Amino acid sequence: MDRFLIEGGVPLTGEVRVSGAKNSALPILAATLLADGPCRIEGVPDLRDIDTMLRILRTLGVRAERSADGTVETEVVDEAPCRAPYELVKTMRASICVLGPLLGRRRRAEVSFPGGCVIGPRPVDLHVAGLSALGAELRVEAGYILGDGRGIGGDREIYLGGPYGPTVTGTGNVLCAAVLARGTTIIQSAACEPEVQDLCRFLTALGAKIEGIGGPTLTVTGVERLQGARYRIIPDRIEAGTLLAAGAMTYGKVTVLGAEPRHLSAPLALLERRGVRVLRGAGGALTVHGYDRARPVDVVTLPYPGFPTDLQAQLMALLTVADGNSFVTEKIYPERFIHVAELQRMGAKIRKEGPTAIVEGVDHLSGCPVMASDLRASAALVLAGLGARGSTEVDRVYHIDRGYERIEEKLAALGARIRRVNPDRSPAPDS
Ligand code: EPZ
Repeated sequence: MDRFLIEGGVPLTGEVRVSGAKNSALPILAATLLADGPCRIEGVPDLRDIDTMLRILRTLGVRAERSADGTVETEVVDEAPCRAPYELVKTMRASICVLGPLLGRRRRAEVSFPGGCVIGPRPVDLHVAGLSALGAELRVEAGYILGDGRGIGGDREIYLGGPYGPTVTGTGNVLCAAVLARGTTIIQSAACEPEVQDLCRFLTALGAKIEGIGGPTLTVTGVERLQGARYRIIPDRIEAGTLLAAGAMTYGKVTVLGAEPRHLSAPLALLERRGVRVLRGAGGALTVHGYDRARPVDVVTLPYPGFPTDLQAQLMALLTVADGNSFVTEKIYPERFIHVAELQRMGAKIRKEGPTAIVEGVDHLSGCPVMASDLRASAALVLAGLGARGSTEVDRVYHIDRGYERIEEKLAALGARIRRVNPDRSPAPDS
């Protein structure tokens, strides 16, 4: 399995361009199931998860090809298949994104029940409740969600809030099931994440009628059919935040190009409270440089526009080296602390108290072998290795490849001493 070898202590400097947003591309690719004509999706990142979604679409009768420039062309060629198989869904729980489009367009679906993952249980009860409120009939049988969408339609009002806030992919599923439904659907407590807004704009490009985009109440007026469209994915705010944190971690000067600063208000505010100077340049360029004292900060992860849970591990890595104690509270996935044990191996002083990690700042981290576990925790370990004294070896980096496009090449271009090695060339297991 691939590993990263990192020599820490090198200040990163230079410019790096952010890729398209994984969590926008996945539901948008799934939504091409709704289109009567060909779609051209631009700015799709080159990731394992994208490859998995394209394989799922092909099993569902969609011609789907990704070219080297990040463009994916899709066209529905067979509407008979409606089964997203366990062999594919078990490798990526975001496969659940095909459930809504299948019910909305083909009126039936058989989608393998997605498993949990290391960040905690990943229930889909809100997806099921929302789709049922829309008129679908869903049941779980032999590990599959079996859906009958013939009852979808009529004027409906749906509440999608859950104990940990709205559901991002659940909002996408209900939207995709509603856009071709007769009547008007009002979705209350819809997720407002930029990726959900991007999906709404893509559906609108297909011809859907959606009001309230960006807010917690979405109103969908069903239409007869949706044509194909050409669309560009928004930049990945989580990758942008991760790259900015890499600059801060190494006391360098890093400019991230192509990001959308409006999507990063909370992470930028937290970096500035931590003592990092952030410059906002032309065309959305963001530069981190110059550092006052490494101040401790308190952070709580919240639904957008709050601080994103997908940047919690990366910020924690940064907070391990600070003058004082920081409090990191995880409100979205209370168990999302698998990175703590690995950071402790590197000398971090972190104490868990329920959904809060108390991070006592130390002078520096020390490099050592660590194990990647989930996508964002793995990125945090890379950041820690970049800032640590000595060498760090991050094992099982296939986790990182799921969500970051050649991250070691982007970091090396900024001066990082990082390289990918594959001691045994064994194939990466299904993650
Ligand atoms: C999306 O996952 C993202 N994935 C996640 O990013 C992200 O962490 C998450 O949203 C929160 O922002 C994609 O978009 C592909 P949720 P999703 O449904 O939609 C609970 C990454 O690293 N919940 O918004 O699955 C759930 O347990 C990934 O790129 C229910 O209780 O997340 C969580 O506590 C990790 N019932 C909270 O809601 C449900 O039916 C938010 O989950 C659904 C969710």
